[in-house]
Amino acid sequence: MTMELFDLPGAAGPSREALGPAAVVLRGFAVEREEALLTALERVVVDAPFRHMVTPGGFRMSVAMTNCGPLGWVTDRRGYRYAPVDPETGRPWPGMPDSFHQLARDAAAQAGFEGFVPDACLINRYEPGAKMSLHQDKDERSFDAPIVSVSLGLPAVFLFGGENRSDKPQRVRLTHGDVVVWGGASRLRYHGVMPLKAGLHPRLGGHRINLTFRRAG
Ligand code: SIN
Ligand code: FE2
Repeated sequence: MTMELFDLPGAAGPSREALGPAAVVLRGFAVEREEALLTALERVVVDAPFRHMVTPGGFRMSVAMTNCGPLGWVTDRRGYRYAPVDPETGRPWPGMPDSFHQLARDAAAQAGFEGFVPDACLINRYEPGAKMSLHQDKDERSFDAPIVSVSLGLPAVFLFGGENRSDKPQRVRLTHGDVVVWGGASRLRYHGVMPLKAGLHPRLGGHRINLTFRRAG
């Protein structure tokens, strides 16, 4: 039997896995853009280095963070919020690279959200053991726009729960290049990341990077 072009993995485009209404994993969606994304990321973190922020309750987050775009998500003893200026440098956050913008827009459109224009990109860096507890993304002014969440580097187990913290989350393994989009009826679903397992990714070494795009302002 000959193998037709459409039998080849990826020939039909990246595969999708529904997580719920208006919530989907686009497998490998960012892979072919990795060089552009990582080159742009290197430039962003020169201007706005990764740092471990502190929660309002006084805990140091295990995930190191920075931002790019007009607004950046920050937390300190005063609370969670979006800010136009990086509190560490006193300067505006670095601009959102075109490659970031385009990826977010294209992934959102694939998931049924045409015309997504993010104004905030939170950049999360996980080292082994780092985790993100279950939370809702709800510091944004409106919940009309979706969340677009890009995974790069080491694999992680993403938890995708319901609208109540106590709803049992689905466990979804995310690998390099996977993009999760959730919005609409799923916009306020709880989500988090299990502690990262140690490993070595050929391009990102011992880390996982997550880019979370939002319309915040
Ligand atoms: C987040 O919810 O901010 C991060 C999600 C992830 O790292 O996949
Ligand atoms: Fe989140």
